Amino acid sequence: MTEERPAYPSLENSSVRRWTPQTFGRDSTATESADDDSFNHEWPACWEAATSLLKWRKPHDRIVDEENAPFYRWFVGGRLNAAENCIDRHLEKRKNQVALRWEGKRGERRTYTYYDLYREVSAVEAALRELGVEADDVVTIYLPKLPELPIAMLACARIGAVHNVVFAGFAPDALVKRMQHVDSSALVTCDGSIREETAIDQKRKADTALASLEESLPTIVVDRLGASHGTHLGANQYDYDDLVETHAGADVTPVSRKSTDPLFHIHTSGTTGDQQRMTHATGGYLAGVAWTARTVFDLSLGTTIWCTADIGWITGHSYAVYGPLLSGATAVLVEGSLRYPDRHRPWKLIERNGVEIFYTTPGVIRTFMKWGESFPSSYDLSSLRLLGTVGEPIGPDTWEWYYTHVGEERYPIVDTWWQTETGCVLISVRPGIDESKPDSVGPPLPGIEIQVVDEDGRELPPGEPGYLTIDRPWPSMLAPLEGDRYWVLAEYWQAFSDPRADSWRYFTGDRAVVDDDGYVTILGRDDDVISIGNRRLGTAELEAAITTVDGVTEAAVVAKSTGGETTLCVFATLEQEQRDQNAVGDAIADAVAKHVGEFARPTSVVFTPELPETYSGKTMYRLLERVINDRSLTNSDALRNPEILGELATIWNRE
Ligand code: WT7
Repeated sequence: MTEERPAYPSLENSSVRRWTPQTFGRDSTATESADDDSFNHEWPACWEAATSLLKWRKPHDRIVDEENAPFYRWFVGGRLNAAENCIDRHLEKRKNQVALRWEGKRGERRTYTYYDLYREVSAVEAALRELGVEADDVVTIYLPKLPELPIAMLACARIGAVHNVVFAGFAPDALVKRMQHVDSSALVTCDGSIREETAIDQKRKADTALASLEESLPTIVVDRLGASHGTHLGANQYDYDDLVETHAGADVTPVSRKSTDPLFHIHTSGTTGDQQRMTHATGGYLAGVAWTARTVFDLSLGTTIWCTADIGWITGHSYAVYGPLLSGATAVLVEGSLRYPDRHRPWKLIERNGVEIFYTTPGVIRTFMKWGESFPSSYDLSSLRLLGTVGEPIGPDTWEWYYTHVGEERYPIVDTWWQTETGCVLISVRPGIDESKPDSVGPPLPGIEIQVVDEDGRELPPGEPGYLTIDRPWPSMLAPLEGDRYWVLAEYWQAFSDPRADSWRYFTGDRAVVDDDGYVTILGRDDDVISIGNRRLGTAELEAAITTVDGVTEAAVVAKSTGGETTLCVFATLEQEQRDQNAVGDAIADAVAKHVGEFARPTSVVFTPELPETYSGKTMYRLLERVINDRSLTNSDALRNPEILGELATIWNRE
């Protein structure tokens, strides 16, 4: 195919600013563990370094095994237990060190040392066993961000049961689907959760889901609202606190698992299609997470990290739970919204907990920007030393704001690229080693090989945008169950018409461009590509141009087709809604024409209070497409803000 490819606007038009972190001395653990040129040349032996961060019951026979290629299996022959690695391993030397600091929606605070975790996880494990849960059974956990959530995950891991965390905001139907997908044999949930002032009946949602399953599943119910709430426990339902009390002092040896045994299932976020079940294997996943916790986040004994992601997403699994605990660090868990009770909450939390590493999404940072810099500047944020971001392109403006107003122009930012499927970060700068460029996520980590290729799988030179692929297996790669391998293969390995028989190439579904230094700029999902005037444009490329307009905070571009002709429509949110919308609309159209080309000038610009997004903060383009193409408006259980749909349809029809 010889289609014209416009260059990414920000590479052409913005001066790439380089910045070398000063605060990371040569003695940091990140520096020690990753400053190793030989790493890339000694694949797969290089990954021995990651296994040495874990405690193994039995060492592996082979680093990697290609028997089920392309699904490589890691550390074959090795045996270990995830909970033992996260908890028991720390008991001898640091059992009284803080493992979790939790802050609830009503300002409650709870602290768990590693020893506290050991006791409670053991009791929950014994309870699950008593309820009939065995190794390889799947346990669904449907809880808001409470300490009981990681505790239940680790209790499963101790037994060798496979956890399946489902985001607590999902409706009963979504829960049922996700339980059926994995053939769940037990559930852990709670009586209710609190949203701003209102109590949400979580138990009722769980009961509705349970009623539509064929079998009655044992269910453990955490008391979040306080006994006064008077939750009724039905048959086969058990109070969490009672179980913990009954099984206090239980001491069961963690089950030795094969490195290749599944540790958990998780569903992808569902931006584009149906949510899919992913599976991660114990040894490879933990090795990848422990390794990146150290090299990317500089986690070591006692480091305090706050990762704002919900534990229902992979980010929460890897860097709110497993990464910190494997490293002997302290994880800060925060229940509820960052804006409740007020906009001071995030900064108070950092100050009060001495957060050293703060990891969030560009969406959250843009919200902070909207609120204004007076909030972070009123607090003592000097405990911070590293900032992270993940999930979507951050863009130079947001990067600068984060760097200046949260990082006080001192701390490195790691813009980490990865996916539910990859299990851990694969592309990022390493603090103290690599320079940062605000519009790029950075180079692939040592041991990771990437390419940017065209539609036919041909490798493209630096500067040319194309499809991002990973060209060598990595330890924490997706490890689908046998029944999933067929579709996983089709989705991630057979994207190109002419796959080279002798090569291993994982298709990420993202578009990207690499610069001369090997730094990667992510241009968005491949599904977020619009063909217009015979050219393929990434929505991220267009949106980057739109958000250069003063006052525009977020934008989403979708295509409208009428009689074979495609035109572009922009949905945008404004810093201040009362601004002169016509003028801003014109400025948006001009910005696209200027940065991308006259051919791409949008025909309509619609202002909306919010964009429809998934619970993990990704814009749902397919819903916007429906709005403008007058197709039926169906809700999706992945949508965080369903109320916006009706509003959008009204605004659109008024235009
Ligand atoms: C997709 C994966 C695992 C992280 C949370 C999201 C996008 C991820 C970045 C980044 C630009 C990013 C990609 C990727 N993405 N990180 N730093 N810059 N885009 O996990 O829900 O599986 O989504 O998020 O498009 O494919 P996920």
